Amino acid sequence: NVYKDQHIASKNVANRIVNLIKRKQKNGETAVLGLATGATPVEVYAELVRMHREEGLSFSNVVTFNLDEYYPMTPDSRQSYVTFMYENLFDHIDIKKENIHIPDGTLNKEDIADYCIAYENKIGELGGLDLQILGIGRTGHIGFNEPGSAPNSGTRLVTLDDLTRRDASRDFGGKENVPTKAITMGIGTIFKASEIILMAWNTKKASIIKKAVEGEISGEVPATYLQLSDNTEFVLDEDAASEL
Ligand code: GLP
Repeated sequence: NVYKDQHIASKNVANRIVNLIKRKQKNGETAVLGLATGATPVEVYAELVRMHREEGLSFSNVVTFNLDEYYPMTPDSRQSYVTFMYENLFDHIDIKKENIHIPDGTLNKEDIADYCIAYENKIGELGGLDLQILGIGRTGHIGFNEPGSAPNSGTRLVTLDDLTRRDASRDFGGKENVPTKAITMGIGTIFKASEIILMAWNTKKASIIKKAVEGEISGEVPATYLQLSDNTEFVLDEDAASEL
């Protein structure tokens, strides 16, 4: 779906999240959301905050799982995805703290594998993700599933691509300060979601969007795996769709 601009597109995605939350509320059920970081979803989160403040939307029945976190990373660091999520969303809504899940960047290396299995299990125990929202990196990564990621991959520790670290260098004051690793949900984890929405804005995403949507399905561009999914929607602005 191509929208005139990212503002209209973001509102649309936010509305779908709101509808999901309300539908679940009506049935006394929990909404399980997979959330993403980066510049792309910021306006979606702002709209959810507005809906909470101005229209009384409650997040008391919402459980969230974030896609990824840098490793190593302390939660109170400026660049952590924990800081990002609290600043952009969690600090401004009535979500219960125990319902928020973000991969832990402070683990000892030897504990990561068990932690990742537990992260997957928690999602499974809640009946899986109702909706996963995604951005896309210029390497074609979703979450931090870089080129070479397997389609059935689970939550795990990964090595970041050089281009991804370059793109993050401004946040860290130089590429040398960007962690070389991250913990990410896998492509397989993402695929299990009932619904997936990948968002992209601006011309700088146009060429990777062309590859993701029209290119050959291959681990070289992990987002191409989404072509195999019936329940994925790409939500684009006209600039990101300009090479399609
Ligand atoms: C990071 C995140 C991804 C995100 C990507 C794009 O690498 N781990 O989840 O999709 O950046 O970021 P942006 O939305 O800022 O373009």
